Amino acid sequence: MNDGILVLGIETSCDETAAAVTVDGRTALSNVIASQIDVHKVFGGVVPEIASRHHLEAVCGIVEAALEDAGVRRDELDAIAVTKGPGLVGAVLIGLATAKAMAFALGKPLVGVHHIRGHIFAAFLENPKLEPPFLALVASGGHTSLIDVRGYDELAVLGGTRDDAAGEAFDKVARVLGLGYPGGPMIDLAAGEGDPDAARFKRTMLEPGSLDFSFSGIKTGVLNHVNTQRQAGGPVDTADIAASFQQAVVDVLVEKTRLALEQTGRSALVLCGGVAANTALRERMEGACAQAGVRLFMPSPVYCTDNAAMIACAGYYDFKAGRRDGYDLDAYAELDL
Ligand code: KG4
Ligand code: ZN
Repeated sequence: MNDGILVLGIETSCDETAAAVTVDGRTALSNVIASQIDVHKVFGGVVPEIASRHHLEAVCGIVEAALEDAGVRRDELDAIAVTKGPGLVGAVLIGLATAKAMAFALGKPLVGVHHIRGHIFAAFLENPKLEPPFLALVASGGHTSLIDVRGYDELAVLGGTRDDAAGEAFDKVARVLGLGYPGGPMIDLAAGEGDPDAARFKRTMLEPGSLDFSFSGIKTGVLNHVNTQRQAGGPVDTADIAASFQQAVVDVLVEKTRLALEQTGRSALVLCGGVAANTALRERMEGACAQAGVRLFMPSPVYCTDNAAMIACAGYYDFKAGRRDGYDLDAYAELDL
């Protein structure tokens, strides 16, 4: 029996079918994730229609498992939180339909959650003392944004990517190098064996003071470098290129974050989103924050990549703020924070 507010979170925005139960938005009682990596691997990326079908097959069992792991009965839930976007619309719809059906059948409140807000709020799960204000760097497959979290309900986007997201660049470069999908973890692994100074890829910083990002130049630089090596008939130095590419991306992410900390004067940073699972990024951000006297909060890798505990956590704060959704709640491919 739990005295706190119990929220069930459901996440199906991309290729992970996930459900979790949190108490008071700060503790995950369960966090169940069914990955579709093996299904999409053969295609080199996520196939939206296939993702939707697999969500449909998996979602009921995953929700059951999340309730069972948490030791929570359906009737004990206080609210049902679900990702409403941004994401693959067909995939998001499966989670929405599940959450709506449960909310209706159980007579529980339904709360639609912004996926990126979920990524940021993941940091609350393991850090009971973390409170806004703080700066957040969200680096995922679809987003790279610096966000000033002024309060639980006041999030200001300071900068975002003008072309590829950091994770997207990782995935594309991995494909060029033949490392497979998902690219981020593969590059992370390969980079561990390579020399980060072997090749020098351009770090695009944009206008002075800008907190926007651009990663398409680095990606093109890698493509040209690989083509040159292939045309010369020599072997492609996969590990060295992976390490050099990773260092270029990390340099940009760390430098822009340093600039944002300077501009906002914030003394705490949350590093989140799938790319925040990257070993080199975590190490470098630790060093930069220690130097700047900034407290750094990085969710464990399982809470960085897509999961439902983060959705339940963000949903708890939405619920507490009095936000409720109707059964007409829609799915969104793009959605402002
Ligand atoms: O947040 P996430 O799970 O899904 C989206 O909301 O997009 O992020 C997925 C992205 C993918 O591009 C994946 O390659 C990247 O995060 N990623 C990584 C690592 N683990 C996942 N990128 C770099 N290093 C990693 N270890
Ligand atoms: Zn995500």
